[in-house]
Amino acid sequence: MKFTHLVLFVFPLASMALVSCGGDAPNTTAKHAPRATTPAPIAQVSAEMPPIDRGAKLYKRCKACHTLNQGGKHKVGPNLWAIYGSKAGSKEGFAYSKVMAASTVIWDAETLDAYIQKPSEFMKGNRMSFIGLKKQEDRDAVQVYLRAKTAP
Ligand code: HEC
Repeated sequence: MKFTHLVLFVFPLASMALVSCGGDAPNTTAKHAPRATTPAPIAQVSAEMPPIDRGAKLYKRCKACHTLNQGGKHKVGPNLWAIYGSKAGSKEGFAYSKVMAASTVIWDAETLDAYIQKPSEFMKGNRMSFIGLKKQEDRDAVQVYLRAKTAP
């Protein structure tokens, strides 16, 4: 009698486990795994888009914290007008982290590429909480857009 009870109890559990394993399988494929750590892109970008358009779409990920226009206000991050050729942490009226204020980095295509790829790594202790753009094409496109919009 006891054994029968056990079977009746264990069997539904075991089959539930099997069903749920089967159900989860498609979500644990390699294709989906990296999404957990990378925020879903807000904008859909396609390889066929001209870089400036692709950059404009990708820039939406920076927009919450930055403005680009001359005299634009500082938000969570500093206004980026005339950013190329400027020293990191030198925009007036913005309260930079100590590391960025003290940095001797000059922003150019190379330093910006490294920074937006992984801000936390490029400048340890800086306060830009942005995970980074992994794809080279995405970083290039953002720079095409940045250059166009911030050039004096
Ligand atoms: C969550 C807000 C946030 C997002 C999103 C963000 N930034 Fe920033 N950014 C900051 C902050 C804050 C700083 C200043 C960091 C410090 O003082 O350490 C900064 C600094 C910078 C600087 C250096 C400015 C200077 O005067 O030296 C650049 C360039 C920059 N961000 C570009 C970008 C780009 C491009 C993107 C999008 C790909 C982006 N940021 C996304 C908050 C953000």
